Amino acid sequence: MGKVIVIVGGQWGDEGKGKIVDFLTEKADVTARYNGGNNAGHTVIVGNEKYKFHLIPSGIVHQGKLNIIGNGTVIDPAVLVEEIENLEKRGFNVSDKNLVISANAHIILPEYVQEDKRTGGKVGTTGRGIGPAYTYKAARVGVRMCDYITKEAKEAKKLKPLVKNTWIMINDAINNGKNILLEGAQGSLLDIDHGTYPYVTSSNSVAGGACTGLGIGPTKISNVIGVYKAYITRVGGGLFPTELGTEEKTNNEESLDKLRKELGEEGFKHLYKKIILKANEDDEYSQGRLLRVQGVEYGTTTGRARRTGWFDAVAARYAIAINGLSSVAITKLDVLTSLKKIKICTAYSYQGKTLTDFPTNINILKNCRPVYEEMPGWSEDLSKIGGYDDLPENAKSYLERIEKLIGVPVSILSVGPKRNQTMVLREEELF
Ligand code: GDP
Ligand code: IMO
Ligand code: MG
Repeated sequence: MGKVIVIVGGQWGDEGKGKIVDFLTEKADVTARYNGGNNAGHTVIVGNEKYKFHLIPSGIVHQGKLNIIGNGTVIDPAVLVEEIENLEKRGFNVSDKNLVISANAHIILPEYVQEDKRTGGKVGTTGRGIGPAYTYKAARVGVRMCDYITKEAKEAKKLKPLVKNTWIMINDAINNGKNILLEGAQGSLLDIDHGTYPYVTSSNSVAGGACTGLGIGPTKISNVIGVYKAYITRVGGGLFPTELGTEEKTNNEESLDKLRKELGEEGFKHLYKKIILKANEDDEYSQGRLLRVQGVEYGTTTGRARRTGWFDAVAARYAIAINGLSSVAITKLDVLTSLKKIKICTAYSYQGKTLTDFPTNINILKNCRPVYEEMPGWSEDLSKIGGYDDLPENAKSYLERIEKLIGVPVSILSVGPKRNQTMVLREEELF
């Protein structure tokens, strides 16, 4: 019997889902995206090759396997065609043997992008037309892929051979005992129903979205793996209890590339040293900036500086509940290197009370202050570590503490962006 495993973002997106999907695809037969559109940016790095996917499942890098873009996604045809052509330029052969698109997926029209740019400012949307596309879908006036491909546009002609009744293909694959990976976009806290509304995206990014977004029943799902960074980030507006520094200050920061160019290599080294020094003098903004610089926390899709903060176990437990997570993958543990002390938020303090459950009422959440536990950090570079036993003792303690606080096992640990910087800690949770 094969397994059907959902990979879902446990935080506010950019947890490293693309990397984890690529890693697990080795043993999968089919990879399928179930929600979102090109608001997503999923990075896969193999050796010296770097791929950034917006719509195509991250499984495509493993040649000879089937990838499905499900009915729950919204597709900007020009963006998808560009993504396909980029792969073709890099020597990939893209056909209906390795990429199919649901006939029922909705299309993002150019006017939706304009509308999103006009109206999405408050939420800080990616401006890609995602909200309008789901709005018109729900209003039953949207355009679906099956209709779009009857048009004369060059993109329609290019996509037509790939458009299929994908529900049949995925259900057949399940019934034939194949291993299947379902790739979520965004994160649980950005989910339209369960996220920090209205600062959310417009689709169901939680694991339940995999069923509606692909046309498979909940009885078919074997495991759900939540991907979490060893800290937490958020792009765009919205509440963020464990944020280090302020949204305004982060948004005003220059991009890493620009900073490097302006300061030169020596100047940048000097600044970097200063950030580490100040971070270890307990300056919160510098702690956040350290995570941003070491974690290269600048958006894949928009290049925006990501807001950064300490690991939030309250929000993590919430994501575990709403997804039914069987295990978690922890990414970017290497990014915490050089911090003398690392904090974990274990509860929130609200009007003199201690809350351990995540409040979904925004008026309560906005008055919650994180309750922290402090752990000793480490200075070793983790990026070349091959096995769990080689980790510094403090890194092990940090992971064990997270595992204890969230109550589900860590099945995968990632210590760098590359495929080979990944450790399997619980084989039984995977294929
Ligand atoms: P996604 O949207 O969840 O797929 O995540 P993104 O690709 O937007 O952002 C994650 C970023 O972190 C990418 O640049 C990855 O290459 C990188 N990354 C993933 N895992 C690790 C890790 O363990 N360590 C480091 N340093 N970078 C990682
Ligand atoms: P991946 O899949 C991080 C955020 C936007 C904005 C809000 C709504 O790479 O993790 P939208 O354009 O969806 O209407 O914007 O959601 N957002 C993401 N943040 N990662 C993503 O995707 C995101 N997709 C949307 O920044 O705050
Ligand atoms: Mg991303």
